[in-house]
Amino acid sequence: MNAGIIGISKYVPEKVVTNFDLEKVLDTNDEWIRTRTGIQERRIAEEEDTSDLAYKAAVTALENAQISPNQIGLILVATVTPDRGFPSVACQIQEKLDATNAAAMDISAACSGFIYALATAKQFVESGAYDYVLIVGAEKLSKVTDWTDRNTAVLFGDGATAAVIGKVSEGRGILSFELGADGTGGKHLLLNDDCFIAMNGREVFKFAVRQMGESALSVIEKAGLTKEDVDFLVPHQANIRIMEASRERLNLPEEKLSKRIHLYGNTSSASIGIALTDELEDGKIKDDDIIVLVGFGGGLTWGAAVIKWGK
Ligand code: UT7
Repeated sequence: MNAGIIGISKYVPEKVVTNFDLEKVLDTNDEWIRTRTGIQERRIAEEEDTSDLAYKAAVTALENAQISPNQIGLILVATVTPDRGFPSVACQIQEKLDATNAAAMDISAACSGFIYALATAKQFVESGAYDYVLIVGAEKLSKVTDWTDRNTAVLFGDGATAAVIGKVSEGRGILSFELGADGTGGKHLLLNDDCFIAMNGREVFKFAVRQMGESALSVIEKAGLTKEDVDFLVPHQANIRIMEASRERLNLPEEKLSKRIHLYGNTSSASIGIALTDELEDGKIKDDDIIVLVGFGGGLTWGAAVIKWGK
């Protein structure tokens, strides 16, 4: 039996910052941001830190999965913006949830973190080690954003997603996955000595277009499927042009691409799960649909998975 997602949710902070708000404080404009990235607005956390966003998403994911916190065997939190070096965000939410039977650790794989957590959870569930693994992607990128750097400040947002991974019925669940890393590209996207995001946008763009397409095709093949079988593509929401390039690589029509970047910007490890949750809430994904998730990020890292949807 495959492991699959039995409950998923998102949480985004209330404060909306639009491109027009950024125009007032930076040498940028709505037209540039919208046409180059697809972003119109993003959410910014004020009082809340990453563990608060993670906790709020986790509570709803557990409700949706109809699982109580003491049934969780492991909590994996993908984040590059933990509240502090340690304890991990996973341990912080283990306490808040009162998930007393759960081991807990963070995963650092930047924007690929949600797929890394998903693939890791799959191993523990399918081996029988744990019945349920709670995975979370949570980021407060606003605290590592240099708000004077227009190259990066317009791109990012805060948010969280959580999903419960458990066994699902025959034929459904996570059919295949791929994880990868290339440390030689680490210099293109990193937290610099001032603890701000520093990025060579063009290099990351080229890498993302190539890698997202290749990884998506690779997991489809590993699942024994073809491009024609794909019902929905949920890519990391970093730039609409990168997302469109991966849709074209799979020859998918416009309506099969998840596009939520205009609402949240790039929320790193949270972006794929937030988009997936929105698509489910809008009824775009049905049981037995074939969903491709694909992401890339700092490290450099990448990851992809094919899910046949449903419990
Ligand atoms: O999760 C992974 C995170 N990273 C990414 O996904 C980033 C991938 N890369 C990208 O998304 C794109 O490279 C960017 C959106 C970051 C930049 O788009 P681009 O089309 O590659 O633009 P560019 O860096 O080549 O810059 C073009 C021009 C430059 O001006 P000049 O040199 O041509 O005069 C920039 O200075 O746009 C200028 N520019 C801006 N203008 C207005 C850069 N940022 C801004 C801005 N507003 N915010």
